[in-house]
Amino acid sequence: MAQDALAHTAAITGATSGIGLAIARALVADGCTTLIIGGRRGELLAERARELHAAGAATVETVVGDLADEATANRFEHLIDQYDVDLLCNNAGFGVGGSVGADAKTDRLVQMIDVHASVPLRLCAAAMRGMRQRRRGIIINVGSLAGRLAVPGAATYVATKAFTERLSESLAVEAAAFGIVVQALTPGFVKTDFHRDVTDDRSHQRDAGLVRWLTAEHVAAASLKAAREARARLIQGRTVPMRRHTVVVPGWTYRLLSAVSNAAPRSLQYRAVARRPFPTSASATDAPR
Ligand SMILES: NC(=O)c1ccc[n+]([C@@H]2O[C@H](COP(=O)([O-])OP(=O)(O)OC[C@H]3O[C@@H](n4cnc5c(N)ncnc54)[C@H](OP(=O)(O)O)[C@@H]3O)[C@@H](O)[C@H]2O)c1
Repeated sequence: MAQDALAHTAAITGATSGIGLAIARALVADGCTTLIIGGRRGELLAERARELHAAGAATVETVVGDLADEATANRFEHLIDQYDVDLLCNNAGFGVGGSVGADAKTDRLVQMIDVHASVPLRLCAAAMRGMRQRRRGIIINVGSLAGRLAVPGAATYVATKAFTERLSESLAVEAAAFGIVVQALTPGFVKTDFHRDVTDDRSHQRDAGLVRWLTAEHVAAASLKAAREARARLIQGRTVPMRRHTVVVPGWTYRLLSAVSNAAPRSLQYRAVARRPFPTSASATDAPR
């Protein structure tokens, strides 16, 4: 077992593809030996488990199912407790388009709140109980830069991602005294399965101006680098977390866009999105494939 590994035991929701899978691979390469990974695509998850095992993880537990289902969330919670995880990554997420009260399915939007907000909160609590006792641990909650914006057609998605960022910032300050790092990983566009089924420009995943499509590996590396730096600060006894370690925006173009949009009047952003609304057809990765 690598002495300076970021984590020896990690739990990652949504590790069948994309950012979650890239984080799982990076952690195993770094010396993580026990993994709990989840996703709805059971066969693919089993294949990922075999790959991670071959790469060096001695134990890989899989949790197959929709995190909006109570039983799936309970199983994750139970395993987090059983294995004393020292890194939790709340990553699972999906997009469904549609206008509230019109073509969006309200039940699915409520389930999105479960998967993006309620379940991550439950898993944070489960992980932090043990982490507080051991006085170390890392929690990465995957949000989105979209969570800073008003996005017609994706209101619930952006609201849940805003929750992720605010929750993580407060938890980061709260938990630092107990040696726990909390991070909101807040990417822009990333080439993953997330946009695979959309029918608008995003399906081409082409760069446009400052909007650059990052790889999942780039995003995972930025997240783990920031977590390592934040942990080093805590070990030195500096218990007020730094913003750049707490809200991680991978890619300099997105950091620039984010600074510009923070400075611009909010009504300008409303005007821009009103002119070119988000496609409202049911979109993105809401169904296990
Ligand atoms: N790609 C982007 O441009 C982008 C930008 C900002 C933020 N994000 C966020 O990044 C996170 C990861 O997404 P990704 O881009 O890596 O896309 P992805 O390749 O589609 O990965 C999403 C992962 O979450 C799992 N998942 C989705 N819904 C689930 C559910 N209801 N229950 C259990 N597992 C579920 C998926 O597994 P199964 O399909 O096997 O269930 C998959 O492993 C999401 O939270 C997303 O909101 C993505």
